[in-house]
Amino acid sequence: MRKKTLSLVTLTGVTALALAACGGGDATEDATAGGGGAAEGGATMRLALNQTEEHPSYIALDNFGERLSEATDGRWDVDVFPNETLGAQQEALQLVSDGSVDMAIVSGTQLENLNEDFLVFNLPKVFDDVEHQMSVIHDPEVTGDLYTSLEESNKLTVLGGFTQGARSIYTTYGPVETPADLAGKKLRVQESDLHIAMAEAMGASATPMAFGELYTGLQSGVVDAAENNEVSYWTQKHYEVAPNWSYTNHLVGLDYLIINSDLLAGMSEDDRAIFDEEWKATYEEHTELWATATEEAITSAKDGGATFTEVDEEAFTAVLEPLAAEFIKTDTQQALYDAARAAAK
Ligand code: GCU
Repeated sequence: MRKKTLSLVTLTGVTALALAACGGGDATEDATAGGGGAAEGGATMRLALNQTEEHPSYIALDNFGERLSEATDGRWDVDVFPNETLGAQQEALQLVSDGSVDMAIVSGTQLENLNEDFLVFNLPKVFDDVEHQMSVIHDPEVTGDLYTSLEESNKLTVLGGFTQGARSIYTTYGPVETPADLAGKKLRVQESDLHIAMAEAMGASATPMAFGELYTGLQSGVVDAAENNEVSYWTQKHYEVAPNWSYTNHLVGLDYLIINSDLLAGMSEDDRAIFDEEWKATYEEHTELWATATEEAITSAKDGGATFTEVDEEAFTAVLEPLAAEFIKTDTQQALYDAARAAAK
């Protein structure tokens, strides 16, 4: 029977960080990861997530830990810390890199800041839908050296990812039908040059901001609009303060699972094989959960007063398409882009 280490959900980020950094609090017999060392015998791995416990990513990752623990006779487990308890994504990335946190889910936009090749998969219109995206990002023929490219520089290994679904715009002030409806409005984006340019191409003024600050940002008028999927719109309660959803569908977003490279390298071959198998089952489960969660989020947000409007998609496509040519600068990026597009149906 799997034992949970500690529930830190109610602790402040600072306390949780301190605990994570000193590797304390593990009530199991297993060795505990953290501190950057390899943990050959096994570990309860701390995973930083910025979503709530209702989000498909939390559910799938929690199940991952459970199956992993069972399959390795308790040697390896995953303890998911939701709600940015271990820090916002930028911070979590740094903590996994220095080994004080073991794993994290980070948006592709964060990895683009470490290696610009990642930006290819953050482009609007590179993926047609979730199925296309998942087939591309889990095909080693396409991804090549991308997922190991941060091992030497940052001690980060990318294991694959979860979809963020199609992202659309929502506002505090009314529906958006064409880019003109964003003129002079502050649109929150993730911390990425590409997404800043994307917001500007759509006519808005871009405000990069961490995910966890967005509810207050919308509520206080620091920003007028944001863009995300319906699941986050609902689970983060953004519909309460920005009830006008407009289906720009400008991008199919991507989250990656990252792990500290030293920790991964310390896993025995047998345990690594189990880990990989269970991780595959995890992203497959996530994709299944995603479709239902999206439908439920729409219904719930509508019940909560949100309206969902169609947009002039052609008008948005026209301003978004030039971004690929503008941002793709190297042969590696071009090859990734071409391979991704070639996999589209
Ligand atoms: C989605 C995504 C997160 C990301 C967030 C954001 O919810 O899954 O990883 O942080 O969007 O817009 O910041």
